Amino acid sequence: FFANVELVPGDPILGLTEAYNADSRPTKVNLGVGIYYDESGRIPLLRAVKQIEQQLANEAKPRGYLPIDGLPAYTQATRELVFGKDSPLLAAGRVTTAQTVGGSGALRVGADVLKKLLPHATVALSNPSWENHRAVFSAAGFEVVDYTYFDPTTHGVNFDGLLADLGKLEAGTVVLLHACCHNPTGADLTVSQWKQVAQLLKDRQLFPFIDMAYQGFDKGIEQDGAAVRIIAEAGIDSFIVANSYSKSFSLYGERVGALSMVAPTAADAKAVQSQVKRVIRTIYSSPSTHGAALVAGVLTNPELRAMWEQELTEMRERIHALRQGLVEKLAAAGAPQFGFINEQAGMFSYSGLSREQVERLRDEFGIYAVGTGRICVAALNQNNLEYVAKAVATVAKG
Ligand code: LMR
Repeated sequence: FFANVELVPGDPILGLTEAYNADSRPTKVNLGVGIYYDESGRIPLLRAVKQIEQQLANEAKPRGYLPIDGLPAYTQATRELVFGKDSPLLAAGRVTTAQTVGGSGALRVGADVLKKLLPHATVALSNPSWENHRAVFSAAGFEVVDYTYFDPTTHGVNFDGLLADLGKLEAGTVVLLHACCHNPTGADLTVSQWKQVAQLLKDRQLFPFIDMAYQGFDKGIEQDGAAVRIIAEAGIDSFIVANSYSKSFSLYGERVGALSMVAPTAADAKAVQSQVKRVIRTIYSSPSTHGAALVAGVLTNPELRAMWEQELTEMRERIHALRQGLVEKLAAAGAPQFGFINEQAGMFSYSGLSREQVERLRDEFGIYAVGTGRICVAALNQNNLEYVAKAVATVAKG
C-alpha cells in the first residue's frame, strides 16, 4: 500500500529548523521559525512559569482526563485576557472558550466547526498570511481566497486595497484577521483602521475569524487585543478568536492555545460549544493537562501574573531594541534602505529579500530565513546582530 507514495515538500517554516539543525557551521543563525530567543540565544523559561511549575511539582496531583474543552480555570482566564475582564460579551455569557492544542489547534478546530455551521463559505486570507493558514483552512475543506494587505513599496499595509477587496467579498465569507504582530509582514492596522474594518465587516455581513498569537508582543496586552474589542463593539454578533500562549509564555512545546466563539446569545453560545466539543472529541478527545495548569496558575495568581507581565514587557522591549539595532547595523554595513524594520511590529519582518537572496543567506552565511523573505527579529542577539546585518547587506547589494 505504501509503494509509490508521493513525496511532498517539507513545511516552509518548520522544515527550516530541520535544515538548520543539520548545519554544522558554528556561525549559523535560525531566523526562520517564530521563536523568541534570549540574549544567550536560548528559549527562555520564564520565572513565573518556573515558579508555578515548582509549586505544581510539590503538589504532585494525579493526571485524570481534562474535560473535552479543557481546564475551566484556563478557559476562563483566557476569555478574560482575550476579551478584557469587563467585556459585556463575557457578562452576557456570549463567549465560549475551549482549550486547544496550540494556536494551530484552535484554527483547525475552529475551521472544522465552521465547515459544519457555514458549509458553503469561502475563507479570505490576507496576502500574504502565515503559511499554515491556507493549509489549515484548505484541509478543513474550504475554498481559500486572498485579500490585499501588504504594500511592498511602503513595507506597510495597503489599506485602500484592503478595504476595496473586503468590500467585494460575498456576505458570509469568513475573513481571517491577524489581531496584532501580523505574521509574516509585521505590518499592523491602526486603531482607527480597525474601526473602519469592523464597520465594513458588519455592513457586508462578513464573518471575522481573528488569529491572536502574539498578544503582548508589540505594545502591551490590552493594546494588542484592541482588534477583538473593536469588533465586539461594532456589534458583530458572531465571531471567532484563536489565541496562543506559545510566544507570550514561551511555552512553545506545551501547545497551549484556545478557541473562543462569540454567539448572539448565551443559549446560542452553549449550542456552539457543543459543536466545538464534538469536533475536539473526534480529533484528540481532550487536551493535555500540564501547559494549561501552568498558564492558569500564573494568570490567576496576582503575584505570578505581575511577574509574567513584567517578563512579557521585557521580551517586547528587547525585540524593539533588536529592531533598532538591526536597522543601525544594516545602515553601517551600507544598507540604509531597511529603516522600515523599525516600524514593524512583533517577531517578524518582511524584509523584502527575494527567494534568491534568502538562498544566498543560507548557502553562504548559514542564516536561515523563510523563502518569502520573512525574518524572525526575535532570534537576534548582540552576538549575531552584526554578522546578520553584514550578511543581509551583502546579499541585498546583489
Ligand atoms: C511561525 O510562523 O514561525 C510560528 O507561528 C511557528 C509555526 O508554527 O509556524
